[in-house]
Amino acid sequence: MTPALQVRGLTVRYREVLALDDVHLAVAPGEACGLVGMNGSGKSTLFRAVLGLVPTSRGDVEVLGGSPQHARARGEVGYVPQTDDVDRDFPVSVADVVLMGRYHLMGWRRRPRAADHAAVEAALDRVRLTELAGRQIGRLSGGQRQRVLLARALAQQARVLLLDEPFTGVDAASEAAVSSVLRELVADGCSVLLSTHDLATLPDLCERSVLLHRRVLAEGPTAQVLTPENLALAFGLGTPGSARRGTGAR
Ligand SMILES: Nc1ncnc2c1ncn2[C@@H]1O[C@H](COP(=O)(O)OP(=O)(O)OP(=O)(O)O)[C@@H](O)[C@H]1O
Ligand SMILES: [Mg+2]
Repeated sequence: MTPALQVRGLTVRYREVLALDDVHLAVAPGEACGLVGMNGSGKSTLFRAVLGLVPTSRGDVEVLGGSPQHARARGEVGYVPQTDDVDRDFPVSVADVVLMGRYHLMGWRRRPRAADHAAVEAALDRVRLTELAGRQIGRLSGGQRQRVLLARALAQQARVLLLDEPFTGVDAASEAAVSSVLRELVADGCSVLLSTHDLATLPDLCERSVLLHRRVLAEGPTAQVLTPENLALAFGLGTPGSARRGTGAR
């Protein structure tokens, strides 16, 4: 099967910092893949590279068989960033931010139709934020804002969803709600790449995971990747060479 997301030999530098070094990764349609690594291991950089937001030194990225820019222009790839890109002082409501996910469907006048409003309503309902629809975006808690960004990606109806630490600052009930939404999306054929430090819930959500430390240290079925040895290595406590790959080779 053609992967929904394919990363080959990806190398990214920020001047003298080598953030990603020869990273290979593939996510199949209808698959959720976890991305695990210590702070600074390159997770957010990988998301930005997949979106075509940072220049790459080497390697290539294909989203649904095309370039990242093409996929973004068609609204095929949704992104929930780690640090949000929404201006908190901007006088827009929660519903307005979610509606932004529909811009690619609305034409240059950006005039919403009934279907766009219905999609916004449904997305807010799925992340349990219906009652905050009219609230100004700056007047939310961190966890609520994360869920608004997920709702924006849902309203977009993306086929590839990139989530950079979507559970950070989100309470247990909301995390459960978000997880169940993600499972439904994956069951519908959506591909998900999700970074998280919440290793306890990862096996439940992602059948496959990638352990990143500038390079891919291990990848495969989540339970086989998140071994104590691999984690020690990924989090800077072990010695290179002891990482084991899971059986699900790329
Ligand atoms: N804009 C930038 N300019 C220069 N260096 C950067 C920039 N963004 C990230 N870096 C560096 O690139 C490396 C990878 O950073 P990245 O943000 O991708 O890590 P991360 O895995 O997402 O970390 P975290 O868990 O803290 O979110 C780090 O060494 C970081 O300091
Ligand atoms: Mg990050």
